[in-house]
Amino acid sequence: MNKPVMEGLRLNVPAHVKHPRLVAWVAEMAALTGAADVVWCDGSQAEYDRLCAELVAAGTFKKLNPELRPNSFLACSDPSDVARVEDRTFICSERKEDAGPTNNWMAPAEMRTLLQSGEKALFKGCMRGRTMYVVPFSMGPLGSHIAHIGVELSDSAYVAVNMRIMTRMGKAVYDVLGEDGAFVPCMHTVGAPLEPGQKSAAWPCNPTKYIVHYPETREIWSYGSGYGGNALLGKKCFALRIASTMGRDQGWLAEHMLILGVTSPVGKKYHVAAAFPSACGKTNFAMLVPPKSLDGWKVTTVGDDIAWIKPGADGRLYAINPEAGYFGVAPGTNYKTNPNCMDSLKRDVIFTNVALTDDGDVWWEGMDGEVPQHLIDWQGKDWTPQVAKDTGAKAAHPNSRFTVSATNNPVLDPMWDSPEGYPIDAFIFGGRRSTTVPLVTEARNWAEGVYMAATMGSETTAAAAGAQGVVRRDPFAMLPFMGYHMGDHFAHWLKMGETLSAGPGGARLPRIYCVNWFRKGADGKFVWPGYGDNMRVLKWMLERVEGSAGGEENVFGVSPRYDDLSWAGLDFTREQYQSVISIDRAAWTQELTLHGELFQQLASRLPSQLLDTKRQIEQMLAA
Ligand code: GTP
Ligand code: SPV
Ligand code: MN
Repeated sequence: MNKPVMEGLRLNVPAHVKHPRLVAWVAEMAALTGAADVVWCDGSQAEYDRLCAELVAAGTFKKLNPELRPNSFLACSDPSDVARVEDRTFICSERKEDAGPTNNWMAPAEMRTLLQSGEKALFKGCMRGRTMYVVPFSMGPLGSHIAHIGVELSDSAYVAVNMRIMTRMGKAVYDVLGEDGAFVPCMHTVGAPLEPGQKSAAWPCNPTKYIVHYPETREIWSYGSGYGGNALLGKKCFALRIASTMGRDQGWLAEHMLILGVTSPVGKKYHVAAAFPSACGKTNFAMLVPPKSLDGWKVTTVGDDIAWIKPGADGRLYAINPEAGYFGVAPGTNYKTNPNCMDSLKRDVIFTNVALTDDGDVWWEGMDGEVPQHLIDWQGKDWTPQVAKDTGAKAAHPNSRFTVSATNNPVLDPMWDSPEGYPIDAFIFGGRRSTTVPLVTEARNWAEGVYMAATMGSETTAAAAGAQGVVRRDPFAMLPFMGYHMGDHFAHWLKMGETLSAGPGGARLPRIYCVNWFRKGADGKFVWPGYGDNMRVLKWMLERVEGSAGGEENVFGVSPRYDDLSWAGLDFTREQYQSVISIDRAAWTQELTLHGELFQQLASRLPSQLLDTKRQIEQMLAA
């Protein structure tokens, strides 16, 4: 095996790496970044433990009380590095038109000059004084025909240990890669080189940030952030932005969707994939516990954030979860909203930006039990209920998160790891809307469903830097995650429907639903109880799939009447139901104006079927 020794740096290539192109790339990147050392991750427990100990020594991690939270750590980030940075995220296709108007774009050559080759290129010397970790990972079960491999080079040990939880990471990936296997190169730096003798910050990062994708050459370059989707490049960068372009080219879909299994009281198993924007309820829905009165129903989790969906030989759509762990929102998680999540978090967790209790455990807003009288907040400051009252300071950052292995989830679907995936019975699209959008509607046909997904709006959340609570169009919950022109994505979905309905699975094309758990009353509170009670809506959907549930047509598909839903065990009046299911003519006239604005923006590549659907809805609204 070749063991290149670069000037001043040993590349340390392990014997199990037999891929000359990969080795050459690592050598080139080590030279570009000036890394002090190269460590090839093998994914072992021993390596994980060693890196965590190093992170504790560096002040990045605090080890939590092992009696209360075994084998778990808390990381607190720099206050400037707490969420995805959408305005710093770029799709660098050769032609601007291919990235579309919803993405930031720069010409690849120009971006490469800025990042790699220019005189002051940001990646030149960016890892001086730091170790470069080589992190091999598989998105999807190792060796599955649906899976794809990536290798992330990062100067963050925090990234390496998180990637071990979030993906199938380690030595076995090299066996799949062999001597010439394909991989997506994922280049990451926190952008904080060290001078000789300089001590690293506990959370190194750089005020300048670039999250860059080259869809044509399938490369990712991320600079300046150590947080979440900016830095764990297998997730949004690869499994959504790069994978969506792969899917467009190869006839499949990469979507921002949870996948769940539902077993009915008679033992029939269904599979549902649901797209909600960031921090709008995917993890919660994926782990749903049905209310006692509906306890003949059982939900199991396949995935909580991303689905790769491919047509099978039988003409049905099969979905896999490319990830192996959850990077989930902490605030609001408790034994009432998500007991399965709370049980998943008992051990082996990395928490980021939650608060630390005096006995060495974690806390966040909305956790069960009494509010602690004293905490160290996510910024390392003393926090008391009085401080919160006086200043409004949150103990945990609103986008604080946990990283935990899927195998910690007590309701993990037994077949979650199946390389073949699951046939999908229904797709759900849902935004966070205080007004206008009803609790649930069923599309009358595939095109109407695609229209619902395409025109979805949602109030912005803390998952992305920037203003919060502002309604924006978020087509397919993919606005921040599309690797190509959004209009082409609509066309891809429409074509998929046409191809499938002409094929052997035609009769089984998944139903499409639009939901909104977030309508508010005059008191500003959510009217719908949500969480476990969302099972009532899910049950209606599956009964529709079976043809057994009723409903009533409205301008925007078919909705359940009050008596079409099960209300056992819940006190929810007809009036309350009316306030979450009603369609207000004036509000919808306004809503369609917003649809029109989106369509105008995407006009150059907007499929005409969607304009036809819009006209039909307008006619119904006018009637
Ligand atoms: P990402 O990981 O950012 O993609 O988020 P997600 O879509 O997985 O959202 P998650 O399930 O973590 O929920 C985000 C927030 O929405 C949490 O504060 C939840 O408590 C809240 N939430 C989830 N489901 C519901 C619901 O049915 N009703 C209400 N009112 N809030 C909900
Ligand atoms: C999201 O924002 O949709 C997330 C969190 O799932 S992150 O991984 O940071 O993108
Ligand atoms: Mn997400």
